[in-house]
Amino acid sequence: MNILIIGGAGYIGSHVTREFLDNGHNCTVYDNLSSGLRENLFKDAKFIYGDIHDYPSLLEAMKTFSFDAVIHLAAFKAAGESMLNPEKYSHNNIAGTLNILNASCAAGIKNIVFSSSAAVYGEPKYLPIDEKHPVNPENYYGFTKLEIERFLDWYDKLKNIRYASLRYFNAAGYDVKGRIKGLEQNPANLLPVIMETASGLRNEMQVFGDDYNTKDGTCIRDYVHVSDLAKGHAMALDYIIKNNKSLIVNMGSEQGFSVKDVLETARKLTGQKIPAKITGRRSGDPEKLTASCSLAFETLGWKASHSDLETLVKTSWDVYRKDRG
Ligand code: WQD
Repeated sequence: MNILIIGGAGYIGSHVTREFLDNGHNCTVYDNLSSGLRENLFKDAKFIYGDIHDYPSLLEAMKTFSFDAVIHLAAFKAAGESMLNPEKYSHNNIAGTLNILNASCAAGIKNIVFSSSAAVYGEPKYLPIDEKHPVNPENYYGFTKLEIERFLDWYDKLKNIRYASLRYFNAAGYDVKGRIKGLEQNPANLLPVIMETASGLRNEMQVFGDDYNTKDGTCIRDYVHVSDLAKGHAMALDYIIKNNKSLIVNMGSEQGFSVKDVLETARKLTGQKIPAKITGRRSGDPEKLTASCSLAFETLGWKASHSDLETLVKTSWDVYRKDRG
């Protein structure tokens, strides 16, 4: 199939592009390289340097090749920043996605896989979180993802666009075959911050609070390997095309690791000190977040298989380590 991957030069986008290429699809990456990297582009995928806010060029790109599907991964994702600068998130995440939806309608593209987030759930009412859990985002980033899911539902009803909305938990790790090496720019997420500290790009990291009601006082999250997520995108696209039906599913590992679990595993596997200072809590951090992924298993046959902590840390260290060959 002809697949348009918007944001395909990004950290997750490049892994998704690699997965679709490995499955034999013709892939075109559309990216403005605002956070995506040229080094994440593959020779066997076409590349269009473009912005989702430039409607005419987006529509032109969509009309150039008769795409069977759009994979939409172009969004800002820093929850903290979204509370300080909601305009930036409204513009990029919401207005940008509406451009993609309208251009897809004009170009006759009927299938979209959307990168959503567990941030739509907000403070957990119960764990593990399944798709029936109430949605009540605590930050503007999560709000944008939930609003986009609502737009998608209307376009399904009114324009017969079938969508799969994948609610990622905490994406981490790097391509197990080492084919993707682009470092995220100014990351805020835990694993890249630990890796930057381990490799000396950062002098010290902060642990945001160790007074939570967990085994070691630090927050627990469900870290899912980016290669598992990428596989989930391909399986979700197959599902919506085969069944002509839209779908919203969680994508997590169903395991919970604390900040200290990740930090200690990184110290052990990298052999680096990784200086860390315990600071106050970060506002908006739920104590524990873990996913139930039974729906993804029942509908797609999807289950995370590279998301053990060692693989997450090792594949990241293979990319961040200074002495990499
Ligand atoms: C994980 C844990 C922090 C950095 C984010 C965003 C969004 C979403 C999921 C896609 C928390 C702690 C972190 C640091 C720390 N992605 N931490 N020191 O907040 O769970 O969710 O990822 O949708 O990007 O919602 O991820 O990696 O920021 O934090 O102590 O320097 O690590 O307090 O407990 P989070 P995170």
